[in-house]
Amino acid sequence: MNGAPSLELLSRFRAAIAEGFGLTVEETRLGALGELLLARAQARRLSPAAYLERMESRLDPEELRILAGELTVGETYFFRHREQFEALRSIVLTEHAQPGRQGPRVLSAGCSSGEEPYSIAMLLRELLPERELVVSALDINAGFLARAREGRYSAWSLREMSESNVSRWLSPVGKGYVVADAIRRSVAFMSGNLCRTDPELFRPRSYDVIFCRNVLMYFTPEQRHGALQRLTSALVPGGYLFLGSAETLRGESHDYHLCHTHGAFYYRRKSDAERAETAAATRTLPPLGFIADAFAVQPPPGLEPAGESWVDDIGRAAARIAALANQAPTHAASSRAEGARWARSDLRAPLELLHEERFGHALEHVRATPAHASRDPDALLLEAVLLASDGKLAEAERSAQRLLELDELNAGAHYVLALCAAGSGKLEEATRNDRIAIYLDPAFAMPHLHLGLMLRKTGEPQAAGQELARAQTLLEREDSARILLFGGGFGRAALLELCAAELAAVGAGR
Ligand SMILES: C[S@@+](CC[C@H](N)C(=O)[O-])C[C@H]1O[C@@H](n2cnc3c(N)ncnc32)[C@H](O)[C@@H]1O
Repeated sequence: MNGAPSLELLSRFRAAIAEGFGLTVEETRLGALGELLLARAQARRLSPAAYLERMESRLDPEELRILAGELTVGETYFFRHREQFEALRSIVLTEHAQPGRQGPRVLSAGCSSGEEPYSIAMLLRELLPERELVVSALDINAGFLARAREGRYSAWSLREMSESNVSRWLSPVGKGYVVADAIRRSVAFMSGNLCRTDPELFRPRSYDVIFCRNVLMYFTPEQRHGALQRLTSALVPGGYLFLGSAETLRGESHDYHLCHTHGAFYYRRKSDAERAETAAATRTLPPLGFIADAFAVQPPPGLEPAGESWVDDIGRAAARIAALANQAPTHAASSRAEGARWARSDLRAPLELLHEERFGHALEHVRATPAHASRDPDALLLEAVLLASDGKLAEAERSAQRLLELDELNAGAHYVLALCAAGSGKLEEATRNDRIAIYLDPAFAMPHLHLGLMLRKTGEPQAAGQELARAQTLLEREDSARILLFGGGFGRAALLELCAAELAAVGAGR
């Protein structure tokens, strides 16, 4: 076959890759994907169509390994995101260091060329020098695993390590370094695919800590969900999951508590009893509420709401979601559209009253809705916002906390907690909650703005400038419904003006 493969073949190839090892291939990489399809078909002496048929009919593991070798990203280095290693240090010291204790059993899932599991082994050796420990490490890319087993690295890979740690755990060889034998013996590398059920690799409750950092972010939502379920079942209740610093479980799982210590975010698997409680509490909820849904979708260019009426804005958001759901009829998209339609009529009246700043009436309305009675997260969030807007901070805080009992990863609830804490002069707590809201939803403009204002007050103009600039950028494309809910009575234009004035005050105006 001459020339580039057809779009139909490309999209089948893309689907086979997603099915085989989770990876989403971006539109911008379709050209390279076409070349890979031709090259692989030629290597197998097949036409691209026959090659695809073969892949689709029996997802050949050897072929998948070759494709993974071509397509996976292996970027990594020793002690990447050092704060997470500090959190791990404290977990090990408090939960595993007592004499007679076993473990911790640690898995590095998506270990790439080995820097991550070796860093974990170095930390464990330092803290528990007498204990027999093996860190398990798996990856789908055979080339990365071969490099990992070799244990040789350039100085660039060690950029986050102190000199004393480098000389303790590595020796110079040629232009680079090799990992000490004791550390190499402490890591067991295995070939494995997070998208496949493998009873050996993912034995239930077989790890105390799992690192799966910067791996799931490349997966399709379905494969991410499946991989997460495998990892969750492999983790003991009470065990810890570390994701990449920009990855969250928001919208993915109710199985974990969010932890935030040492400047790092990570997760703790709930006990069976806690899990049962959450399941009972969330059983009656629709899959996704309309507020979160309206916010989750950015308007396509040209469909930016005109802003003449907030009710119209929200109506347009629902239409956009429904339209997007029709374009890409996935289960998640259609349930979002369902959620949007469902809750419209339900919370419309209290939202309207919020807009008119009739907070007391709005509260009565929201509390009278069946959604509130069934502890629907959107109704609870709206209640918390209304209470905070009305200056009833203690009540707003309680309401936000109730919401967090149901959905610990609710960015809006953390933002309300930040407002309440700041209103009571507890700036540290306010900052912490703003940072959690930002971590959970990096596109959420208001916590950046709020944090920027607080940092300016506490005399940190540079950090304030960064947050305010981020808020300004995000506000320009922030969803109108979310501005309505969290904007404290200000519209987009007024909030942008506030950002500009504050930025000028810290000497960082555009
Ligand atoms: C960007 S690296 C992350 C390395 C390390 N965890 C870190 O954060 O520094 C992503 C790794 O995930 C691996 N990976 C991708 N898909 C995988 C899959 N389905 N199963 C196992 N590993 C996979 C890639 O081969 C690559 O080594």
